[in-house]
Amino acid sequence: MRASASGAVEGWQCRIDDHEFHLFRTLVERETGIQLPESKRSLLVGRLARRLRDLGLDSFGASFRHVTSEGGADERVRMIDRIATNETQFFREARQFEFLENDVLPDWAARAQERGRRVRAWSAACSTGEEPYSIAMTLCARLPGWQIQVMATDLSTRVLDEARSAVWPIEQSREIPERYLKAFMLRGVAENQGYMKAGPELRALVRLGQLNLHADRYALDGTFDLIFCRNVLIYFNAEGRAAVVKKLLQHLAPDGMLFLGHAETLDAARFGLRSVGPAVHARGGRAASGSGGWALPPRPRSQGGARAPGQIKRKEGS
Ligand SMILES: C[S@@+](CC[C@H](N)C(=O)[O-])C[C@H]1O[C@@H](n2cnc3c(N)ncnc32)[C@H](O)[C@@H]1O
Repeated sequence: MRASASGAVEGWQCRIDDHEFHLFRTLVERETGIQLPESKRSLLVGRLARRLRDLGLDSFGASFRHVTSEGGADERVRMIDRIATNETQFFREARQFEFLENDVLPDWAARAQERGRRVRAWSAACSTGEEPYSIAMTLCARLPGWQIQVMATDLSTRVLDEARSAVWPIEQSREIPERYLKAFMLRGVAENQGYMKAGPELRALVRLGQLNLHADRYALDGTFDLIFCRNVLIYFNAEGRAAVVKKLLQHLAPDGMLFLGHAETLDAARFGLRSVGPAVHARGGRAASGSGGWALPPRPRSQGGARAPGQIKRKEGS
């Protein structure tokens, strides 16, 4: 018996059969590394049905021909935008931000001269910007006077557009520690009521661009002290995950740290890494050659240098 799932949008209905589902899952995996097991069939249908209706297409087969046609590149991007899961939040996985704030950055601050007062971070699947802006707030508060750059990339152009606006619903302010909220976020007034926006100081630190983690190589210059690649590897198979981690490591500074999602377990030693914090890895595992000399950062010290809450408080949008 052939399995099928149907998508219904306001009275309009369309079914996907086994062959059509196979075509889509193969295309999505080839382009993005994202796996679509059978259990994701309804998700695929649910997320694409409205677009099929809007384009006047009467089957998933027709939709597949459309996205793979010569002029279908834009539509292919839209399709992938719909399929990728973009769930995120500010300071997600708080223990990692605590580790960064309390264990890593005080040590770097103490060695400011040696480190050249420069720090580069990369949020490699940044979604709508909450992750890179959380990193930027933390770095800005803990490393005052440093040259800070936060690169933020994602496959999806739609989420990148949202991240670029640096505007989020005000309800999300609950996710941000009060001191950072006061220091770095602007509350919308008048027509911007109900929203918040990252202040100019923060916006100047974050650079956004499209990057497919599944690409053969990453078009990025230089290395990063911190790489966050969280809650995206789970969508890839084991081979895809390993390939991504290897490419990320080409861009990790010798004493840099790789932050993964908590559900994304890594055989760290296989990559010459060792675990140094909650789902945080640094070079120096068994398989590493010539990368010794990396020591665990000291335990928390005083947190001098943090911006006083409320130092910047602006209103915008009127
Ligand atoms: C669940 S969100 C995670 C966002 C953020 N890192 C966090 O942990 O909150 C996953 C993100 O990965 C992106 N993504 C999926 N496949 C990707 C790929 N092949 N290359 C780059 N980004 C990808 C999606 O567009 C989505 O924004």
